[in-house]
Amino acid sequence: MQLPTLHHRKLVLRGVRMRDARAMEQALGENRAWLSPWEATHPLIRPGRFDAKASIRSLLRAAKEGSALPLVMVKDGELVGQLNASQISYGSLSSASLGYWVVEKVAGEGLTTLAVAMASDFLFFETGLHRVEICIRPENTASLRVVEKLGFRYEGLRRRFIHIDGKWADHFCFALVIEEIPRGVLARFEKGAVPPGVAAIPETDWVKARNPLHLPPV
Ligand SMILES: CC(C)(COP(=O)(O)OP(=O)(O)OC[C@H]1O[C@@H](n2cnc3c(N)ncnc32)[C@H](O)[C@@H]1OP(=O)(O)O)[C@@H](O)C(=O)NCCC(=O)NCCS
Repeated sequence: MQLPTLHHRKLVLRGVRMRDARAMEQALGENRAWLSPWEATHPLIRPGRFDAKASIRSLLRAAKEGSALPLVMVKDGELVGQLNASQISYGSLSSASLGYWVVEKVAGEGLTTLAVAMASDFLFFETGLHRVEICIRPENTASLRVVEKLGFRYEGLRRRFIHIDGKWADHFCFALVIEEIPRGVLARFEKGAVPPGVAAIPETDWVKARNPLHLPPV
């Protein structure tokens, strides 16, 4: 897949490059405490030292195969975050899943919200996908605000869905399909035309998420 370079106000959202390795390692290293509670982990492999070059190489391989859209967020020339579309599938599903982070010092500037809107529009209108999904841990208030601000529609609770920070974690899942945003996610957001309440999580799912899934004794 051809990686785009997208500009909007102070944000540049562009394809990751091998030469981003040093800046990425630095950003991740300086923001360990901020990011690690939300980081996907491997259930069988203890996390070792982060190898940015290996990570970027694997992202670029996935992009070449068409299964990923690995982007970085750049502000004033500095790499301040990452946004990856993964699990890109075509044909009868035509869907992708988004993940993202920013360094703590730019949190609250709206960069991720813009980046998610821009990447979603690229996936819908340039790549031809039908659906974009975002799954978020119930504790992640900041990320829940991102989907709420953009009007991603709540789809449901997935129990013990993704291995995060060393354990299987429940996730609330949200999605948009292209028919919901004929003029695009960014345009709808910027016009203030996001329908209220679509990302609302029913109290029954909050109650479930507060209680661990009942598991049989081992
Ligand atoms: C979730 C995250 C990517 C949001 O990025 P962002 O660029 O700050 O997004 P926004 O600026 O649109 O802010 C989203 C919400 O974050 C919260 N927020 C704002 N400043 C914040 C700060 N300094 N610290 C924590 N949360 C903050 C606010 O609730 C904000 O919503 P608001 O605009 O209604 O006030 C970012 O908090 C982050 O990188 N967190 C750690 C990694 C992570 O959680 N990734 C997502 C996994 S699903």
